[in-house]
This record gives sequence, C-alpha cells and structure tokens, in this order.
Amino acid sequence: MLSYQAKTFSTLKNLKGITDLEIDEHLKLYTGYINNSNKLIELLNDKIAKNDFEGPQFSELVRRIGFEFNGLRLHELYFENLNGQGGDENKAPKLKKLIEKNFGPASAETSSFESFKDYFLKVAAMRGTGWTLLCQNCDNENLSVHWVNDHENGHVAGFEPIVVMDCWEHAWTAYLKPTERAKYIEDFWNNIDWKVCEERLA
Ligand SMILES: [Fe+2]
Repeated sequence: MLSYQAKTFSTLKNLKGITDLEIDEHLKLYTGYINNSNKLIELLNDKIAKNDFEGPQFSELVRRIGFEFNGLRLHELYFENLNGQGGDENKAPKLKKLIEKNFGPASAETSSFESFKDYFLKVAAMRGTGWTLLCQNCDNENLSVHWVNDHENGHVAGFEPIVVMDCWEHAWTAYLKPTERAKYIEDFWNNIDWKVCEERLA
C-alpha cells in the first residue's frame, strides 16, 4: 500500500461565519488522519513483508483502516465543498434538478429543494458524533441522505458522497460553544460550494 500526502485547500479562508481559526484547527486534525493512515500503511506493509498475519495485532490494524481512511477522505470532501463564495444552489442546476426529483414534489408551501434542505439539516442536528452526507447511488443515480457514525459506520456500498458535512463538535468549537450546533449548521449551509458538489455526480 502507498502512503498519503496532505492536500491543500484553496477556498477555506474568509468563509461566512466559520472563522479562519476554526479552519486552522480543523486542518491540524486532518493532518492527524493523514499521519495515522500512513502509520497504519507502514505497519501493515511490514506485516505483509514478514508474512505475519497471526494474532490480534494484525486484525486490529486492518479494522482501524476504516476509521482513519474515512476520517482522511471525508475531511477532504468536506473542505473541498466549503467556499466563502458558496451558498447558492442555483450555480449547480443539474444537481438542484436531481435533488428536486428525489425529494418529492413541490407543495404550495415548500419547494422540493426546501424539503431536501429541511431533511438534510434535521439529520445534521441529530445528537451524536459523525457526518451528514447527501449521496448518489452509483447503480441508479438516485440521491439520499445518510448519517455516518464516527467516520466509518453507516456508509452504503456503492454510494458516492455528494454533499459532505462534518458533524463532530470540533467542526465548530474553535469559534462557537458546544451548545451552538444550530449556528454551525447555518454557517455550513451558507458556505456549500454547490458547483463542486455537482461535479461529484456520476
Ligand atoms: Fe472534522
């Protein structure tokens, strides 16, 4: 297995609401996932070289990959879909149309995009530590919203993340109180780079 290098993200300064200090702290945590993923790769490469697959050390290393690798990749997808110039879903007409198709017909009171927004943000507000994802089923191109516990529990096989929201408290506690999750949710929504999300569609 080959090692990872940390990416740089060009659109993370001057976000709406989310401070540069918050982003700086968050990027340090991301670096931790890179370092721990590379450590796992190093240890497993050593096991492979020595043909040493016995015992709990080997199986725990393999199990840990789900946590570290997903932590690494979800953070990249999260940072990439944040942009201080974001927040306008009309910049991604193909994705908006697909969301409207998947999240029910518009009613007199609420458009189907608003229905999706309400549901996505309800999931994001759930108690717990994890991620809220809008995903696309690569088999039929349908969209659905999912909650992932920690980094690895709740992914659906063959579903690609389209909109990725970090719902760990560290995503807001460098600039908000732990009880101010609702303000962070609002800030996240106002910074979504819908064009980047649209480019993730199949
Ligand atoms: Fe995070």
